Amino acid sequence: MPDQKTFYITTPIYYASGKMHIGHSYSTVAADTMARFKRLTGCDVRFLTGTDEHGQKVERNAAKAGVSPQAYVDAVVKDIKALWKLMDIEYDDFIRTTEPRHQAIVQKIFKRLYDQGDIYKGSYEGQYCTPCEAYWTQSQLAEGSLCPDCGRPVELVREECYFLRLSKYQDWMIRYIEEHPDFIQPVSRANEMLNNFLRPGLEDLAVSRTTFRWGIPVDFDPAHVVYVWIDALSNYITALGYGAQDDSLYRRYWPADIHLVGKEIVRFHTIIWPIMLHALGLPLPKQVFGHGWLVLAGGKMSKSKGNVVDPVRLCARYSSDALRYFLMREMPFGLDGVFSNEALLTRINADLANDLGNLVSRSVAMVEKYFGGEVPAPGEAGELERALQHRALALPAQVEAHMDALQFSSALGEIWKLVGECNKYIDLTAPWVLAKRPEDRQKLATVLYHLLAAARVVAVLLAPFMPRTPARIFDQIGTTAPDQQTWDSLGDFFAVRPGSRVQKGEALFPRIDVALELEALHAPQQDAAPVQAPPEQAPAAEIGIENFEQVSLVVAEVIACEKVPKADKLLHLTLRVGGEQRQVVSGIAQHYTPEEMLGKKVVLLANLKPRTLRGIESKGMLLCASDDEGHLKVLTVDGDIASGSGIH
Ligand code: MSP
Repeated sequence: MPDQKTFYITTPIYYASGKMHIGHSYSTVAADTMARFKRLTGCDVRFLTGTDEHGQKVERNAAKAGVSPQAYVDAVVKDIKALWKLMDIEYDDFIRTTEPRHQAIVQKIFKRLYDQGDIYKGSYEGQYCTPCEAYWTQSQLAEGSLCPDCGRPVELVREECYFLRLSKYQDWMIRYIEEHPDFIQPVSRANEMLNNFLRPGLEDLAVSRTTFRWGIPVDFDPAHVVYVWIDALSNYITALGYGAQDDSLYRRYWPADIHLVGKEIVRFHTIIWPIMLHALGLPLPKQVFGHGWLVLAGGKMSKSKGNVVDPVRLCARYSSDALRYFLMREMPFGLDGVFSNEALLTRINADLANDLGNLVSRSVAMVEKYFGGEVPAPGEAGELERALQHRALALPAQVEAHMDALQFSSALGEIWKLVGECNKYIDLTAPWVLAKRPEDRQKLATVLYHLLAAARVVAVLLAPFMPRTPARIFDQIGTTAPDQQTWDSLGDFFAVRPGSRVQKGEALFPRIDVALELEALHAPQQDAAPVQAPPEQAPAAEIGIENFEQVSLVVAEVIACEKVPKADKLLHLTLRVGGEQRQVVSGIAQHYTPEEMLGKKVVLLANLKPRTLRGIESKGMLLCASDDEGHLKVLTVDGDIASGSGIH
């Protein structure tokens, strides 16, 4: 398709110096959502991500771990790729800066810039932040001579190195930014670049190092390795085969439509990178978008503070779709946003379980109940139906406008307006009342048809945000044909076919007991899922009897029991254990009433470390059996025996 519009989007390449946290997922989910959206609208998309694998930090971490830098980054990259798989990140290419296809071209770029006088040799003394791999001028340092990005101490370093002649291009760069208001987004970041970096005067940039070895050698001066930013930034074109024998991808996709980057690296992407490209005679990316940070209530997430949020754990508990939805919905892209587990769980319950989940499950259940599962043909549309049709037909253009401005949250907000309107429509039309009157049969058919039709529109538009949920909706509402799931199909409100069958399925997003989950999330991370989930029923490893003897199991009698207020799943039990009384909180309220528990002789794990649940100190745990279908039974003893008796 020669005239298909191309769309090239990139994420930053992530430092392969450690594990990814939710902040890294944020950049990548945004890029993936955008790439999926553009694919949906018919573009020929190229989505690139990858890893930045050189530098002193990797060298040091590898040495600490006692492995070679290459082995170190290989292991990190394996985890990163597994995380992206878990989060349904559908990249077209993953570039690693240690790959030959990248290294060879970086050397060429470096040499060419040197040959034409844009790189020269000098010596540098400056304040260097090793973790950030950045030199800072005295005036840029934060109070106490700390790195302004990460807040850690900097060191005074002096070395011979090559410099990129940024100063020569300063005026050109200022003019370029002024004349291309879309180049840096949001606009506030363009002003920041102009006022904080460009207008005060650009210093030439050190672009080689002799103080460490883990980098791409400068081939004409092997004491030097290419400093990480020239190396890293070039990835956006080396991955397309720029300078290689086959550069067809480069010719097809460059210049990039969007480089998506976090706000702290906008500077590198809107000053150093454009100057490099300009010096090489190459076109500049059309846009660099600097998004905000996800911060925690206590400040920036960082490994050194030990407060990083693990996306693997959240995906394992609530699904990748739910996490992706939250990341794109909760905060306007571009601004910082506070991440909290509570906000995540509240959104899942309100938006996904209630609004979306209920719309689908109620609509499908009513078609099953009143029409035997067969989609009825709609009758004549009234005012409410016309309003619903109108909103659904207008929605794609509204979503597209927000997406083109990278306003993911507003795009989802628009989609949810339709969801909300549908739920309101159910309340207004009260299909269960219509169902009682034979003369309203046609009206009932019209209402249910409109609900399915609107749900289909929602599902099509959600696909870029939540790659898995739409298929589940399509299955339930019976719109499984590919032509009912395309962008173009959104122009036809009536793409749902009367006569097709709906199929009740599981709840799209089961409601979460927020209090209980918060407790679990705050507990030490015993349930951290490995990136590759183990087989579901992993056979337990064999243990010796001495291991079993560490577990104290006793018979306990339930002498009082009540529900824990405002917690759906919790019972508060008072147990008699021999001469002692114990309080235990147990997550069994959906299986037993307090009355049913009274008098039971149960099996108590007595030497479990106490923990506080909903303000009640729980000392021990009741043993229960549960199966895959969610049944649960408390273990009791066979016949009468005194409480406190040991179990062996
Ligand atoms: N390797 C460089 C980028 C080179 S691009 C040519 C780098 N890597 S990084 O791993 O430190 O960061 C990668 C991206 O993750 C950055 O865009 C950064 O802003 C983003 N995030 C890291 N922590 C973040 C949050 N807490 N919140 C949102 N994004 C954050 O910089």
